[in-house]
Amino acid sequence: MITEVAKAKLNLALHVRARRPDGYHELETLFAFVEHGDIVTVAPAETDSFALTGPFAGVLRGDGDNLVTRAARAFRDQFGGGAHAISLDKRLPVASGIGGGSADAAATLRALGRLHDVALDDMFALADRLGSDVPACLYGVTAIGRGRGEQLEPVAGLSGAPVLLVNPGVAVSTAEVFRRWDGIDRGPLPADPRTGRNDLEPPARAIAPVIGEVLDALAAQPGAGLVRMSGSGATCFALFDSAASRDAACEVFARRGWWVLPTRLT
Ligand code: C5P
Repeated sequence: MITEVAKAKLNLALHVRARRPDGYHELETLFAFVEHGDIVTVAPAETDSFALTGPFAGVLRGDGDNLVTRAARAFRDQFGGGAHAISLDKRLPVASGIGGGSADAAATLRALGRLHDVALDDMFALADRLGSDVPACLYGVTAIGRGRGEQLEPVAGLSGAPVLLVNPGVAVSTAEVFRRWDGIDRGPLPADPRTGRNDLEPPARAIAPVIGEVLDALAAQPGAGLVRMSGSGATCFALFDSAASRDAACEVFARRGWWVLPTRLT
């Protein structure tokens, strides 16, 4: 049996540059990953099966067409490999801007690739067809993403930096947030992501005003550095100067009943 962590994805900055004729948006983003995420296991089997566990399993249950099973089908269409028993331990909130389904699909491909000796590079095109963030999640390294997010350029990361993820419990539709983007190009990614932006924050806040509360509360925590919303929201994060200050902040947010994940950048 192969186990893969579907590490949560963060956008340390996300600049939306243009609306494209195909309905997608031209992005410049800095992808980073954290140590924790959903857990995918894959084992060869007589017949296909898919099992769902974990605190957020209920949201996906009944969805026979989730990204894990789609990734497994697409892998078999291209590379063969027979039937598999696949399980997904859903620990991250869904529709929350931290990869979720994309990371699950990527972890499924990595596991199948390990089982059947298929290299990551050979699964790139397949990953790209499954979703804009799936290629970034497939490699799972700090990288600048351009185009829809699939044109990747690995860069040095802040490996080991303590980070706290906070989600106020509202699911936000990625397509809806992009639709509400005002169409104004505010310029390219700066060399230092701390001085960058998330251009999806204003439209996401229009849908879920509580995001503003989360960001203000994160910025007020002792030891917090870079504070930003990830992806199309509603999950926000802060990098901290120490694990102790991160953990102190974590208690504050947990007391409010918000979902929290104290972790580190990989
Ligand atoms: O590629 P994926 O299916 O994950 O994207 C979900 C939705 O997010 C798309 O249908 C599109 O509305 C929006 N999107 C976008 N531009 C991107 C990535 C995603 O408009 N670069």
